[in-house]
Amino acid sequence: MPEQLAESIVQLALRRGFFNPTAEIYRGPAGFYDLGPLGTLMKLNLINYWLDTFVKRETSFEVYLIDGSLILPYEALKASGHVDKFTDPKAECVKCGRIHRLDQLIEETLGLKVEGKGIEDLQEIVKVQGVRCPNCGGELTGFKEHHLMFKLSIGGGGEAAFLRPETAQNIFLNFKRIAYAMRAKLPFAVAQVGKSFRNEISPRQSIIRLREFSQMEIEVFFSPIRGDGPSKFEDVGDTVIRVLTREEQKRGDGGEAIELRARDAVEEGIVPNKFLAYYLAKEVRFFQSLGIPPENMRFRHLLPEETPHYSGGNFDLEVKFSFGWKEVVGNAYRRDYDLTVHSKHSGEDLSIDDNGVKIVPHVVEPSFGVERILYAILEHSYREGVREWPILMLPRIISPIKAAILPLLDRTALVAKAWEIYTWLRASRLPIYTVYDDRGSIGRRYARADEAGVNLCVTIDHQTLQDNTVTVRDRDTTSQIRVKIDELEELIFNDTYRGLEQ
Ligand code: GLY
Repeated sequence: MPEQLAESIVQLALRRGFFNPTAEIYRGPAGFYDLGPLGTLMKLNLINYWLDTFVKRETSFEVYLIDGSLILPYEALKASGHVDKFTDPKAECVKCGRIHRLDQLIEETLGLKVEGKGIEDLQEIVKVQGVRCPNCGGELTGFKEHHLMFKLSIGGGGEAAFLRPETAQNIFLNFKRIAYAMRAKLPFAVAQVGKSFRNEISPRQSIIRLREFSQMEIEVFFSPIRGDGPSKFEDVGDTVIRVLTREEQKRGDGGEAIELRARDAVEEGIVPNKFLAYYLAKEVRFFQSLGIPPENMRFRHLLPEETPHYSGGNFDLEVKFSFGWKEVVGNAYRRDYDLTVHSKHSGEDLSIDDNGVKIVPHVVEPSFGVERILYAILEHSYREGVREWPILMLPRIISPIKAAILPLLDRTALVAKAWEIYTWLRASRLPIYTVYDDRGSIGRRYARADEAGVNLCVTIDHQTLQDNTVTVRDRDTTSQIRVKIDELEELIFNDTYRGLEQ
């Protein structure tokens, strides 16, 4: 059944234009996906909703938005530690030549959690336990660390550079410029949405693990001395978060998440500071509004050996998918790691004046993976067995199409009226993307709309010609109301925000 759900999502994505492999007609390389017409609209809606929630509506501190370069110089990524430490272990099969990500292979074959272990330790496990190629049973060889960054050379001189492995680095590199230009006072944050690149050894599960992917990241800069938190912490402090502690993970069965309020998580020393706890609470609320139930979310405190090299502790938000728990947001307490290393390597002073005290701020980073979130939303909104066709009960704010305009019958007068309403709605300045459909029976058109997650179907019938009213059908309930044409634009717009926090 779980595999079936993942397969249904992939088939629906291909059929309806959410996503498909890159250069599909050439059987392009694994780990690259293009978003189709519906996937692109959905991604834009997700980004806009995220910007609205975490940037525009954030009043605890200022959040500045930047848009940095995808290509970064060698020196910057040498300083950040990515050149030396951003690797995964790999091995090759002597028989079929397949390259495997070694820690994953061991986990899958032996059920041992070995992420973060050194290459020698992994090689020893392979030897002692007799791990072989799952593809052909061949012996494994060529054990080495695999660098995850894509290397480039710039210009005629071939200056070394990389595609950025995270959007975060642009933010640290621009820290001083932003602080001065914006006359920023601690605490403040900088956000960025954009592509990042990782040359994964064996990407899989469609858009879950990609070599080119999109991130929505925030770096919050704050004083480690003051020990304060976001001014609006109280607004979310009572939010219940589920934390899978390190102790729980050491239990044989993988452990159970504990439930506690965000404020208690800080007071009990489970989460290291209020800035981090603030984001954990906000993430729970954000994902709940996107249709992910709280019991399908947990914050896993990464074990020391799996914690990224720059982080003093990660509480990654994992969502339960049909194929298991997967990270969708990395929440790292990066402390002063990045500003300190960039200061040292560039020779620039990256400290800031905080009420007369010169400090290097500490950083909390929530890092959202866009494609994984899109996939999580698709899985959680997919329904089979309710009607004769599958339905995508997408969060209304995220669904690519807000309304489909449908003439009931293929009669000239109805088609003309429907087209007039459609062109009027398409001219709207409100963010209400609409489509027109007059192909096939009304039942088939409702089915197509449901499968694409269209929030509302607007049907134009004979009565419309007499009294300028239309029927509006709700995707989730199929209930219909009759409304005046004049009210449609506002109705479709207001419906988009149904159920969201004010
Ligand atoms: N900035 C954190 C990450 O990309 O994993």
